[in-house]
Amino acid sequence: MDIKDKLEELERRNAEAMLGGGRERIEKQHAAGKLTARERIAQLMDEGSFEELDRFVMHRCVDFAMEEKKIPGDGVVTGFGKIHGRLVYVFAQDFTVFGGSLSEAYASKVCKVMDLAMKMGAPIIGLNDSGGARIQEGVLSLGGYADIFLRNTLASGVVPQISAILGPCAGGAVYSPAITDFIVMVKDTSYMFVTGPDVIRTVTHEKVSMEELGGAMTHNAISGVAHFAAADDRECMALVRELLSFLPSNNLEDPPLRSTDDPPDRTDERLNALVPINPNLPYDIKELIQLVADDGYFFEVQAHFAKNLVVGFARLAGRPVGVVANQPAHLAGTLDINASLKGARFVRFCDAFNLPLITFEDVPGFLPGTTQEYGGIIKHGAKLLFAFAEATVPKITVITRKAYGGAYCVMASKHIRTDMNFAYPAAEIAVMGPEGAVNILYRRELQQAKDAEKFRVRKVEEFRERFASPYIAAERGYIDEVIEPRQTRPKLIRALEMASTKRDKNPAKKHGNIPL
Ligand code: HXC
Repeated sequence: MDIKDKLEELERRNAEAMLGGGRERIEKQHAAGKLTARERIAQLMDEGSFEELDRFVMHRCVDFAMEEKKIPGDGVVTGFGKIHGRLVYVFAQDFTVFGGSLSEAYASKVCKVMDLAMKMGAPIIGLNDSGGARIQEGVLSLGGYADIFLRNTLASGVVPQISAILGPCAGGAVYSPAITDFIVMVKDTSYMFVTGPDVIRTVTHEKVSMEELGGAMTHNAISGVAHFAAADDRECMALVRELLSFLPSNNLEDPPLRSTDDPPDRTDERLNALVPINPNLPYDIKELIQLVADDGYFFEVQAHFAKNLVVGFARLAGRPVGVVANQPAHLAGTLDINASLKGARFVRFCDAFNLPLITFEDVPGFLPGTTQEYGGIIKHGAKLLFAFAEATVPKITVITRKAYGGAYCVMASKHIRTDMNFAYPAAEIAVMGPEGAVNILYRRELQQAKDAEKFRVRKVEEFRERFASPYIAAERGYIDEVIEPRQTRPKLIRALEMASTKRDKNPAKKHGNIPL
């Protein structure tokens, strides 16, 4: 034997590993509109940057005649590479090998890249496409899942963790993605559920399809489990790359700057006319965000869920920021349970990864009603309050119109350590809206008045003049500056620059007790 034979053996082994579960299963994967694990990695990473680890790892199972079925790599492709020139780690489940199901050996491959990601301070991306625990391996597989869950938990807030769901994801397989920071699902080919349609039919006699139960739009629009919905695998990989462009590699780094030709002192006259003076008229807060952000670009997160609160990433003078904004065009921008959960999680992510928070506020209050109260709006609303209050990243708020009641306090008010609080001249900051306030304050007079309607209109007008303005708050210093809307971009950029050296911390503790 000489080196030529050795090289040939290596080549043969590599070629065998590359085929995964074989040509037939690869064709089946393609026919289902899905890419293979390796094709996905190629789409995800900068060209030619991927380095694979553990290509020859195999399972050690000897039950169910498994010793006769061994495939190099054992159903998961792991390694490292670059996205926009920065180091990332990846594991990609290979559905062509035992349905991508998780064995003991497979789990240790995943744990290895997770440990490396933590050690090097780099994001970890999971490409999920798996039938769950490998049935033949029993508790060894369950143990493998738990080993991964522990690592997901310990990595939370240290390195960004992103999950793409690219096929079935059942049982324990959904809990690793659920702990990660962002979930991207692909329409029509990906599913997430704790128990599938068959089990549901047996236990509760409820009939439901895979799509209705756990498809991409179910989790994007109804449950709020997922953050993005992509049309196919390619779009999904592009989306993950785009998301990473806003994020630092770990919690000790700042997010990456991107140079822009958009001038930092750019004012925009359209902003002066965008917010209607009539407080009952809606407008689209996303238009406002786009007029202010670098190059008009806003990367929205959870666009289909709780549309009354808009969250996402943008850049200001090249610096990535997290944006949280009430949406008057949906449910009048009220805060409800779903909006509170969506906002709180996003705020905590930004705080963990050094992304300054820009809050645009136009909120008539919390959504009233028994559905909300029975659903626990008290504790869910408190999550948003807790998240804003504990955040130590630079915080800047712009009150564009209404800031009523508890929602005023919650939405990054001065009192919970916000660094700059701006208000537009037509902002209304009050305990409640003028109509509600007059009905309570003048109940008796309204009952006795000869012309109650005229009296009410006059009192509402008086209340609006005196209290529903930014100036009482500005007199107290709760508002740092009342600004012309057209100046929003330069004002935000200067405030952001001012706060860029911010040092703030919370009292020493093991961890807070956010009202879960
Ligand atoms: C071993 C599995 C497997 C599994 C699929 N396969 N799931 N092998 N363990 N969990 C194998 C199949 O035998 C088949 O092998 C190949 O993968 C492809 O599967 P198909 O059924 O032919 O594919 P498809 O029709 O597309 O259906 C995919 C599927 C289905 C929906 C994922 O396979 C399925 O329901 N699998 C079981 C899902 C499940 O209940 N998993 C356990 C969840 S509980 P061949 O050789 O024929 O190609 C769990 C506990 C974890 O995960 C808890 C942690 C806390």
